[in-house]
Amino acid sequence: MNIDISKAISFAGVERIRQNETELKSLHKALVNGTGKGNDFLGWMKLPAESEPAIFKRIKSDAEKIRAQSNVFVVIGIGGSYLGARAVIDCLSHPFLPLVPGRQDPVILYAGENLSEDYHAGLMEILEQYDYSVAVISKSGTTTEPAIAFRIIKAHIEKKYGKKEAAERIIAITDAHRGALKKLAVEEGYSTYIIPDDVGGRYSVLTSVGLLPIAVAGFDIDKLIGGANTMREKCLSSADPEKNPAIRYAAIRNALYQSGKPVEILVNYLPNLYYFTEWWKQLYGESEGKENKGIFPAGVSFTTDLHSMGQYIQDGTRLMFETILSVENSGKELRVPFLEKDSDGLNFLAGKRLTEINHMAEMGTLLAHVDGGVPNIRISVTELNEETLGALIYFFEFACALSGYLLGVNPFDQPGVEAYKKNMFALIGKPGFEEEGKKLRERLK
Ligand code: PA5
Repeated sequence: MNIDISKAISFAGVERIRQNETELKSLHKALVNGTGKGNDFLGWMKLPAESEPAIFKRIKSDAEKIRAQSNVFVVIGIGGSYLGARAVIDCLSHPFLPLVPGRQDPVILYAGENLSEDYHAGLMEILEQYDYSVAVISKSGTTTEPAIAFRIIKAHIEKKYGKKEAAERIIAITDAHRGALKKLAVEEGYSTYIIPDDVGGRYSVLTSVGLLPIAVAGFDIDKLIGGANTMREKCLSSADPEKNPAIRYAAIRNALYQSGKPVEILVNYLPNLYYFTEWWKQLYGESEGKENKGIFPAGVSFTTDLHSMGQYIQDGTRLMFETILSVENSGKELRVPFLEKDSDGLNFLAGKRLTEINHMAEMGTLLAHVDGGVPNIRISVTELNEETLGALIYFFEFACALSGYLLGVNPFDQPGVEAYKKNMFALIGKPGFEEEGKKLRERLK
């Protein structure tokens, strides 16, 4: 993984970057020694190097069992309880997996990450047709969206397979002690994985929360773990920006924020990075956006979005910087064909790979946006595979924690998420929220 900040330095100012790097040295120490804010939520830092090897073994064996008995695997969860798995699975999967003739790998579907009736009714129609298994994932075990989805799917799977077989097809991933999901899992005898107490949802992809679905999808979790561990070593061992890319990234993105750029757009040029961007948005948004401060994390998929958001980024209000997540090589080969008549005038591209053209689009856009006043950071990897994804995940998590510290917030809590929950409970009539419900209904008249 390489990080290039050369097209951002002049916007941020060398002095500001240096100051941040200096401050980050002591913040790195606070993070590594566990003396900073939210230090009861630092378990992610030990992952996956210090996880029990037996866990990985169990995940692989459960995944094999699920793959053997199911064409569809439903991951029920929201926020950090599904985004990491979806990010990795989408990056590595065939883009048209369900249509691949003779496919061996189960299709992974998601539930409880929204409250759409059409979405969930449609899902139930599909589950009627296929053999499936389920992972219900919730750290707190009390989150409304996945709890509702699980109630619906539990009823269906029990009707389809009978209670006993259904219980063998359900895995619960939750807290060790608390929450309705834990209680239910014990009562129903589901196989259970524990999310460590000191690992928050958005930092949990390298636990069973992410690893089980990724293994079920057919990907090599040992390689993912290997990539993460190599990056972990780099991140923990040095606070020198030359050696630790997380320091470099945290320093420059905060310097840009301090110089009047409150929006960071994570840019990708591959549609399969869409959910990686969503994972990143959650990680940074929930970690930094508090106390009326924080960089607003946004995402675009180019070249698609060059035909929608490109105009604004080039010419609109100057409030953003871009971080390009660039992938050098494609796993497949497809070249532009030669046309005898050249009726579309594209013969100058004949024989070129799409990746080469995509890179030229990337470089051209980078320079155009820099000329338009948009600083660009470029993070590049050679290819998208389990190893590079493992490294990127650890890198972004570590840089996020450091960035939060530099901003002066606790990057591991999310107090702001409670406000909508309270209002939703009041409006849907949850016992205990009656008074608040009355007041809210008045306000909505
Ligand atoms: O990062 C977080 O803690 C949150 O985004 C959670 O992952 C999300 O709210 C889901 O919570 P839970 O896993 O408790 O259902």
